[in-house]
Amino acid sequence: MSAKFTNLIDLSDMPVKMWNEVVELGAKISDNPEEYAHACDGKILATLFYEPSTRTQMSFRTAMLRLGGTVIGFDNPENSSVSKGETIKDTTKIVSNYADIIAMRHPLEGAAKAAALTADCPIINAGDGGHLHPTQTLTDLLTLSKEKGRLNNLTVGLCGDLKNGRTVHSLCKALSCYPNNKFVLISTPELKLPSYVKDILTASGTAFEEVASLEEAIGKLDVLYMTRIQRERFSSEEEYESQKDVYRLDHAKMLKAKSDMCVLHPLPRVDEIAVEVDDDPRALYFKQAKYGMYVRMALIMTILKDKTAYPVTLLKGKAANDIVCTNPKCITHKETYLPKSFRGIGDTIECDYCDERILKKH
Ligand code: NCD
Repeated sequence: MSAKFTNLIDLSDMPVKMWNEVVELGAKISDNPEEYAHACDGKILATLFYEPSTRTQMSFRTAMLRLGGTVIGFDNPENSSVSKGETIKDTTKIVSNYADIIAMRHPLEGAAKAAALTADCPIINAGDGGHLHPTQTLTDLLTLSKEKGRLNNLTVGLCGDLKNGRTVHSLCKALSCYPNNKFVLISTPELKLPSYVKDILTASGTAFEEVASLEEAIGKLDVLYMTRIQRERFSSEEEYESQKDVYRLDHAKMLKAKSDMCVLHPLPRVDEIAVEVDDDPRALYFKQAKYGMYVRMALIMTILKDKTAYPVTLLKGKAANDIVCTNPKCITHKETYLPKSFRGIGDTIECDYCDERILKKH
């Protein structure tokens, strides 16, 4: 099913050329934000946030305000008709007639894609459960291109909750499209990177190793991407407790790192980075959050300039309403009217909404 609009659901749907243009425009805006103060005069952004957020929501809102546009939306679905049982389809259908563009965050995987199937304006995925977070990745790409001067030839350490961290999944997929990047995946065995993301790295020829010790890995890294253990995505409190304090970046560990390594974190931080690290010039996470606003300005401008420039296919697979996705967090379980669709042939298929791999039973 082909979309009417340029939606940003998964960066991988878009040509790398488009990401590079957004990142370059983000860099120009960050050098001279006043020049863009009227770029979206008269336009309206709706932020539909079904899940808590500080940076993503506020940076989207300020991005539109700084472009001269206005903002509507909710950050607590309990205050909207969602609390009366309204479906994503109906909410986004209505809001897409009020607004020119929608940024949506939802706890279920594939939710933004579900909205894009029927909305009457472009949809930006601002995070769908533990799945993807493409605008955080654009933020990370702008930060790396400004601060490291390149998006290739980087040894990137990813540390923490690699299983549930949607920012990690999107970043791995994106950096695997630039030459000679290497990943050092630092996690406990329980929180390893999902196999579908590792397969993407392998298919692109991106080298990666899986290790358990941050201390041993830190010396070889150009970039250390720390992440929070995603408490809200664990099925029990005990499971979370067993994982929560395993990794902590502190001054002693920073002594072992290269003098030009940069430390990124999508934030919020819990206690995986000691506050003492904040004063280290290599700690760039607060600056990174500011780049997030500039890159979102660039993204909104790019999509609104020509709303139909990249109408990518949303459901790439075959319709199969008799197959049930095995991922309990997949949007298709809650929004049961959605046309089910799976990619692949033979015994292994992938859900078109959440990318879950399913082994077909005979
Ligand atoms: C991240 C997210 O929401 O996935 N934060 C963000 O967007 N800045 C990371 C997190 O919540 O841990």
